Amino acid sequence: MKTLAAILLFVALAYANDSSEWGQGGGRTSTNCTCGYTNKEAGRIVGGRNTGVNEYPLIAGITYRGRPSFIFCGGTIITERHVVTAAHCNPGPGKALDVVLAEHDTQSSRESKTTIIAVQSMINHEQYNQRGNTENDVALLVLASKIPFQRTIGPACFPKANLNIVGSKVRVIGWGALYSNGPQPNILQKVDLDVKPISDCSKVYPGITAGQLCTYTLKKDACQGDSGGPVIWLDPATNRYTVVGIVSYGYGCAQPGAPGVNTAVSAYRDWILNKITQTVPGVATCQNK
Ligand code: ARG
Repeated sequence: MKTLAAILLFVALAYANDSSEWGQGGGRTSTNCTCGYTNKEAGRIVGGRNTGVNEYPLIAGITYRGRPSFIFCGGTIITERHVVTAAHCNPGPGKALDVVLAEHDTQSSRESKTTIIAVQSMINHEQYNQRGNTENDVALLVLASKIPFQRTIGPACFPKANLNIVGSKVRVIGWGALYSNGPQPNILQKVDLDVKPISDCSKVYPGITAGQLCTYTLKKDACQGDSGGPVIWLDPATNRYTVVGIVSYGYGCAQPGAPGVNTAVSAYRDWILNKITQTVPGVATCQNK
């Protein structure tokens, strides 16, 4: 019996390590808590494809209370009580919000067991949109109760300061429209995009700042409804997914020559960490050691 248990454990560990592309850790660097993991398919974004059921435990869907099947923006879990999203997702005071966790198909309740948690408060960046270029498009959702971290629900890893990933691939996930003015999919979509120099974005969108992350790949993009959602990067040092961006805006979706603009999480690191400590002292983000 003991031998069998040992063999099973060994197989599980070997499997966990042999997973270079799916964020299971085992990299040369470790993190202070378990983050950025994925579940391989047991089984839009524009130009993307369906995710597997609960493939990305780090995603949160933002909904109006009582309308759990209409996800109007995405978000990323970063602590037991916090989800990071875009300031432009804020519907203003008086609208009660929830986050839906472990969601996959918004029109089915059979494929995945979701958890709904009430949003206690939504804190917009104080300088959001002050100059009219959608800069500082970041907000923090403070949840009313603790997120039950489990296989299907868990935090993204949090980036270090001054992270530069120009030239890398990132992945965007969301329930946003499949094309400009198109319908939203029921099933969570994923797409891989290239991170471009900020100058590629400022050519098209004047006033872009260093606090933004420019993405562009022909025929692929985030779209309406993906806003606030995760732009994640598989950190080669940890083999875990780090949240590097927040979907913010773009001219149409996947229009030739028009990149997507995202808020660079690394640039707002201090703002986010300060708000976390101010709202729920004692909870932490997961970071590289
Ligand atoms: N602002 C849009 C929203 O509210 C989505 C922005 C992403 N657009 C893009 N072309 N990358 O959902």
